[in-house]
Amino acid sequence: MNIHVPRGTEDLLPDVTKKWQVIEEKLNHLAQVYNYKEIRTPIFERTELFQRSVGDTTDIVQKEMYTFEDRGGRSLTLRPEGTASVARAYVQHKIHGSPEQPTKLYYVGPMFRYERPQQGRTRQFTQFGIEAIGSASPAIDAEVMAFAMECYQTLGLKSIKLVLNSLGDQESREAHRNALIEHFKPVKDELCQDCQNRLEKNPLRLLDCKIDRDHEAMKTAPSILDYLNEPSAEYFEQVKKHLDAMQIPYVVDDTLVRGLDYYTHTAFEIMSEAEGFGSITTLSGGGRYNGLIEELGGPDISGIGFAFSMERLLMALDAEGVELDKDESVDCYVIAIGEEAKYASSKIVYQLRKQNIKVDQDYLDKKVKGQFKAADRLGATYAVIIGEEELNNGVANVKNLKTGDQKSVEIEKIADEIKTGF
Ligand code: HAM
Repeated sequence: MNIHVPRGTEDLLPDVTKKWQVIEEKLNHLAQVYNYKEIRTPIFERTELFQRSVGDTTDIVQKEMYTFEDRGGRSLTLRPEGTASVARAYVQHKIHGSPEQPTKLYYVGPMFRYERPQQGRTRQFTQFGIEAIGSASPAIDAEVMAFAMECYQTLGLKSIKLVLNSLGDQESREAHRNALIEHFKPVKDELCQDCQNRLEKNPLRLLDCKIDRDHEAMKTAPSILDYLNEPSAEYFEQVKKHLDAMQIPYVVDDTLVRGLDYYTHTAFEIMSEAEGFGSITTLSGGGRYNGLIEELGGPDISGIGFAFSMERLLMALDAEGVELDKDESVDCYVIAIGEEAKYASSKIVYQLRKQNIKVDQDYLDKKVKGQFKAADRLGATYAVIIGEEELNNGVANVKNLKTGDQKSVEIEKIADEIKTGF
């Protein structure tokens, strides 16, 4: 039996990786424009990191992590997301001591969640994310959302919507939590087992339950916005004011709670509104996490960030019919006629590459006609043709395949001729 990729994973073949390269180039550029620097952390971490940050009662930690014991008996987990690792690295390397605050970081890499695969949901996916750690200013919340929107806009997406909510500070969340417990207690028996277990421990998680989402009690659940204390409400107002100043449209949705426990204050998602996008419309998600750095042993420093998967971004590009084209044609193709010319061809190809010229040659012993066809298929602008006679005279024929013009050029001067162009 042939071996295929594991369920929920996929191979990215060159016609897809070329799109990724275009996207990554634009995102790297955008990160520079917004002054974010790249961080790379390990793909696996100690399991405890995610239990403490993402939260013990979340779906991610309870059902979706790829956790294993290594040969030394340590419990390790393939990272399901990037924020926890960045926060761990921030604390571990005492980055809070550096003068550059807030610390603005970005990352791209594979994440792993054992979820039921469907369109837009895979078990290995690649997140691009940013984290701004060390500022509690509402201006940076707006910056992160602006960055998130710009990721899509810079690639040409139009049908996207920024959805915003506030989860408030500790005190507001506590008040909301109590209201949720009171609200759901009378219908506890009608809820799924997970919800019943979470009701006392973490009732906010009920609001993102995929099973009970249509239960009557969900629709009438107390809104967090009614429980924001004064400073939290004021903070939320200021975040919105910054967005207004930047003329970034958004809608407030008080049912947006996000599936991770570390969030405080601002929580947001970007949704696709493109027709035919499929059932999962969330493109990216993020928010503020004011207690996370301290929870991981660092000082009381706040942060905010967001992440999206490349897979969902590509879905959105497809849904909106955005083409990302990358020129993968070669500049030149070297055509050898006869056995001896093959050695000269290898030499010429090698020399041209050293001069940064994109070039290839035949490795299938094709006849001259076949080699010209290959040059054409690769989109070569020039063909360098070398046969026995040329070989004896130390020259080659350089032909512009677009115009048909042809020249005899000394072998050592081919690179110059192609660079200058004719
Ligand atoms: P998240 O909402 O769990 O947040 O994931 C963020 C994004 O990752 C989603 O909006 C989606 O684009 C993508 N994603 C998640 N799961 C899958 C999957 N199974 N298949 C394909 N794509 C997926 C976080 O991960 C937070 N760390 C975001 C954040 C950064 N918050 C603050 N800073």
